[in-house]
Amino acid sequence: MMTPVAQRSGLGISARGVGKSYGGVSVLRDVDLDVRPGEILGLVGENGAGKSTLLRVLAGSIRPDTGEVLLNGEPAGIRTPKDAISRGVSLISQELALVPARTVLENVFLGSWDGWAGGHGRARDLQTFQRLQEETGFRLAPDAIVASLPIGRQQQVEILKALARGAQVLALDEPTAVLAGHEKEGLLDLIRKLAEGGTTVVFVSHFLDEVLSIADRVAVLRDGDLVATDDASSHQPASLVAMMVGRQVDVMYPTLPPVPEDAPVALSVEGLSRGMVRDVSLQVRAGEILGVAGLVGSGRSELLRMIFGADTPAAGRVLVHGAPLKAPSPARAMAAGLALVPESRKEQGLALTRSVRDNVAAPTLSRRRLGPFAKRKAERRAVADVARRVDLRAKGLGVPIWTLSGGNQQKALFAKWLLTEPSVLLVDEPTRGVDVVAKQQIHGLIVDLAASGVAVVVVSSEVEEVLGLAHRVVVMRRGRAVAEFAQNAAAGDVVAAAFGDEARNHD
Ligand SMILES: Nc1ncnc2c1ncn2[C@@H]1O[C@H](COP(=O)(O)OP(=O)(O)OP(=O)(O)O)[C@@H](O)[C@H]1O
Ligand SMILES: [Mg+2]
Repeated sequence: MMTPVAQRSGLGISARGVGKSYGGVSVLRDVDLDVRPGEILGLVGENGAGKSTLLRVLAGSIRPDTGEVLLNGEPAGIRTPKDAISRGVSLISQELALVPARTVLENVFLGSWDGWAGGHGRARDLQTFQRLQEETGFRLAPDAIVASLPIGRQQQVEILKALARGAQVLALDEPTAVLAGHEKEGLLDLIRKLAEGGTTVVFVSHFLDEVLSIADRVAVLRDGDLVATDDASSHQPASLVAMMVGRQVDVMYPTLPPVPEDAPVALSVEGLSRGMVRDVSLQVRAGEILGVAGLVGSGRSELLRMIFGADTPAAGRVLVHGAPLKAPSPARAMAAGLALVPESRKEQGLALTRSVRDNVAAPTLSRRRLGPFAKRKAERRAVADVARRVDLRAKGLGVPIWTLSGGNQQKALFAKWLLTEPSVLLVDEPTRGVDVVAKQQIHGLIVDLAASGVAVVVVSSEVEEVLGLAHRVVVMRRGRAVAEFAQNAAAGDVVAAAFGDEARNHD
């Protein structure tokens, strides 16, 4: 049970004439935005519109080229994140900024534990920690090592850290992107409660219904321009999308062509087990999209990694077009026609300091038996083509991939595996952090691939996405495949199967 939060005196934050360019390309232009004390402002826009950049300016981690940040109408003098924190402004980024090898308590009170050895500092901090846990309803073990916690828990550590520093303005960059359904609800409730207690909140998300359910007002960025600020109550998701892209767009799932009667089985998984994954069997036919639903931690990603040979099964086997993969490895899986678009672009998918082109071309490089010059040329063409297909937006394909916005990095990851022309495609959370329009494009691509005969397995934490995109849905719970549904199943039934007999508010 959450106890009432400590009341915080409201602090308004404003951007005045904020502009920012990178290498001559302007990514924010003359942005004027006022966030009122204690309000929740939803900030939306397409991938690359400048949302994260604006949050970083507000939180002092980027200096704008023009303009300034005001607190309660006064120049804030924020030049560094430290300035921002001391003035009560905290940013929770898309990529969390914790020290993984340290404990929860050490992370929440980052910087103060040097003094713990001698005096009473630690006891005092522990007391503050317990109070904040009561306020937020979190139940974190103070001595747990952060790296051992699931991502949803790590995010709670970030929130406690911000509150411990007395945050009066909290900027949250896509905080729900990594959370499962019930965790999202919990976070939204907490944000509402913090705002009621006087905390000012700037909330960025691609889940527009979520933004509308939580925000008092919404602001829309389009290609670096702030094009609108409105009451949330005057909008629907569709009207927000229209402002984001500057035209009317119908957002819906593509029509699935039926799997041909005589389509052969392309992927067959027989009794795969390893770690928590127990005895999972499934078959996917050429042209079929199989959705895999389940809670975060139910073994879905582990299953995909095993099918791809990234982890060796303890038991069971994988057959591609009837031929078993012997001595599984990603190289052999790729040679057999498999591709895996992994869940985390940062940890598994991309070499962040290399160019977009190098990243996208990486898995296919060795396949091209051409001279170096011809190879380079073929590669440029292939990458440019696939980048167009996923609507990847970047200044050029030679720029380091870390400079791309979060959603465009996700598209690059998808493009990279698309280029390998797989006959069996495994995708883990394919649209995480992707805007609604780009998401529709990725869905269209997946369906087109299936229509061309590719067998696809899609893991997604969004039940609507698996149901909208797949011919068939398998639900995993605690490492087992526990239920199967047809395409037109009710979302509630899938969720119920994912939870099983566990209480809905379990940990
Ligand atoms: N350090 C950098 N160097 C060069 N370009 C950058 C840098 N940081 C951001 N950009 C560019 O600025 C633009 C805005 O990026 P930003 O990350 O703010 O977008 P976003 O609205 O948060 O998108 P997303 O929804 O994908 O997270 C993008 O075109 C991005 O490539
Ligand atoms: Mg962003």
